[in-house]
Amino acid sequence: MASKASDVLTLFSIALPLLLFLPAVPLSSAACTKEDVTALLAFKNSFPPNTFPNSWGDASTSCCFWDGVGCTHGRVTSLSFTSDEYTNDVLPVNLKGTVPPSVGDLSALTSISISSQADLVGPIPTTWSKLIKLKYFTIYNSSISGPVPLFLSHFKSLQQLEINYCKLTGTIPPSLGDLANLRSITLGQNKLTGTIPSTLFSKLNKGLLANLDLSENQLTGAIPKSFGSVAFTNVNLQDNKLTGDASFLFGKSKPASQILLARNNLSFDLTKVDYPVKYLHYLDLNHNEIYGSINEQIREVLDLRSFDVSYNKLCGKIPRGGKFNPRFPESFIHNKCLCGKPLPPCK
Ligand SMILES: *[C@@H]1O[C@H](CO)[C@@H](O)[C@H](O)[C@H]1NC(C)=O
Ligand SMILES: *[C@@H]1O[C@H](CO)[C@@H](O)[C@H](O)[C@H]1NC(C)=O
Repeated sequence: MASKASDVLTLFSIALPLLLFLPAVPLSSAACTKEDVTALLAFKNSFPPNTFPNSWGDASTSCCFWDGVGCTHGRVTSLSFTSDEYTNDVLPVNLKGTVPPSVGDLSALTSISISSQADLVGPIPTTWSKLIKLKYFTIYNSSISGPVPLFLSHFKSLQQLEINYCKLTGTIPPSLGDLANLRSITLGQNKLTGTIPSTLFSKLNKGLLANLDLSENQLTGAIPKSFGSVAFTNVNLQDNKLTGDASFLFGKSKPASQILLARNNLSFDLTKVDYPVKYLHYLDLNHNEIYGSINEQIREVLDLRSFDVSYNKLCGKIPRGGKFNPRFPESFIHNKCLCGKPLPPCK
């Protein structure tokens, strides 16, 4: 308690002189530009009446205080909506209708997050191409359809692109690879087709760790070899129709904690793969055409939490000892000739 009290005192002694220099603007009239208010009201009015609470759009309070709206220096910089239970600063609403073009007029927006809006339909409007300051783009679990917008490739500040569990169709724009800050791409659980562009992450700033989730689409062809030099912490390409090699995603010094490639048609020799011993937690390769054997190095992985190579074409004795003592046969069944614990003994 004593230390808390002194913390508060310290805080006051630092903050008080600063406060004295602040201009005397009442908080409720904290700047909120006409342009931003107009765009937000157009957003509100594009949905049926009573979609938003009465307080939302009340001209007597700054739009910066409307739930789900966030401001920086008096400009609207973030917008967050969900239908889930109220969470801090996120407005729980059920948006019924097409995606409103008016959002494109919030020209200072850096973050948009829309989640669990089953009744929000249609493509992402082209007016959104004006949101060139966006860093975080999230649409999750909604009925958004149409393509991954090409204009996203002009958002130089974009760091995180997440449109998952929606109804996107078409292919992944190769030009997303032009973005040097885009370190996280999540387009899982859509209906995307075509191949994975080899350009993705090719211009990512050095030192940035990458995250890729394209799971549950209908992607075909090979995983780009260029991904071998991307520092992925997570690669999730499960449930597609990918073929060929994936061994280049592995490597002893890689930062990968998750490599999820299950239910594709990948075909490569697992024998010579080096596991990311320091970071690997989850490895799922089930239902592919992977051959060779599981090498002894798997015993050095420090904290392996799940491992599944079932339904492949692997052979040989399952390593044991060190940090690797698997108990569940389900993770190894339906291979060509894997044997030893937890499967029956080798002959
Ligand atoms: C998806 O959104 C709907 C509401 O639109 C919600 O009922 C459902 O629980 C959400 N599902 C997930 C997995 O978030
Ligand atoms: C998977 O690939 C093998 C050849 O590696 C091929 O014979 C088989 O038809 C493919 N299966 C599917 C479902 O594409």
